[in-house]
Amino acid sequence: MERTLLVIKPDGVRRGLVGEIISRMERKGIRIRALKMLRMTREQAEEFYSVHRGKPFFEELVSFASSGPIVAMVLEGDSVISVIRTMIGPTDGRKAPPGTIRGDFSLSIMENVVHASDSPEAYEKEVRVIFSPEEIL
Ligand code: CMP
Repeated sequence: MERTLLVIKPDGVRRGLVGEIISRMERKGIRIRALKMLRMTREQAEEFYSVHRGKPFFEELVSFASSGPIVAMVLEGDSVISVIRTMIGPTDGRKAPPGTIRGDFSLSIMENVVHASDSPEAYEKEVRVIFSPEEIL
């Protein structure tokens, strides 16, 4: 069994997509092992997205990611990292296919509703920014 982190970004929460997104995970048979709503501080957002430091969109990304509440969850399932990457679709909502979360709900590369870890290493790093080990069942 593999684990990953899924974050519903501030745009997804503002637009009332939390239930829809959690429902897609549950219907797929993916298990939720931790779940919380929080607002990331600037520092948390910088740490969460540190692989993008130095890129032209970094400042805007950090501002956006800390602009309002997010819903973060640890998910578990067989090959869940690649399964969820397929379910969310490519980064750019304008190019994401219908049926994916970004394809169905986003028309933007920045405000693309969700984030999911892209590797086990990314998961280990990202989950520590948001959850303490005791919070994960
Ligand atoms: P995410 O999958 O969370 O990873 C990095 C985020 O940066 C991405 O989704 C977008 O929200 C944001 N972003 C903004 N511009 C770009 C870009 N040109 N390329 C990649 N990510 C971008």
